[in-house]
Amino acid sequence: MVNAALQAKPKETTSQTGIAREGNDAVAQMLGDALADSFSLYLKTLGVHWNIVGPSFFGLHKLTEAQYQDLGAAIDAIAERIRALGHLAPAAFGDYAERSVVESKTTIATADQMIKALIRDNEAVARRLRKAVAAADEAEDVFTADMLTARIGKHEENVWMLKAVTA
Ligand SMILES: [Fe+2]
Repeated sequence: MVNAALQAKPKETTSQTGIAREGNDAVAQMLGDALADSFSLYLKTLGVHWNIVGPSFFGLHKLTEAQYQDLGAAIDAIAERIRALGHLAPAAFGDYAERSVVESKTTIATADQMIKALIRDNEAVARRLRKAVAAADEAEDVFTADMLTARIGKHEENVWMLKAVTA
């Protein structure tokens, strides 16, 4: 049984900061996509941290630890930005699976496949974030644009390090 009160949108507030509740639906939608991507990649990166085996184990175990910890902080920041804009932050695996570009239906078996998948996913997440930054710029939401631009840099760094460790 779905609780209607839980589904209702929170009360709209009038902000005096120059960012309006009206017209930021597109930005909130893209932040929701970024949240789905980041949460899905967080889980997948944890899976690599736990399951990877082979001669590069120690380096990859430590590298993925740093990456999932960064993603863990990022998901909270992205979700709270959605709230600051007056929208609900999606918080269900079903929503994330539906919205994310991260392929995460099964746990991957081999180290090589795991790292290649993480590289592809970080690249895909960064590509989608570029569109979100453009939407935030369009809405003059400088904070969101800045936050998501920093996330792009982080995903690019992740790609570099994953490639470097496995070269
Ligand atoms: Fe650990």
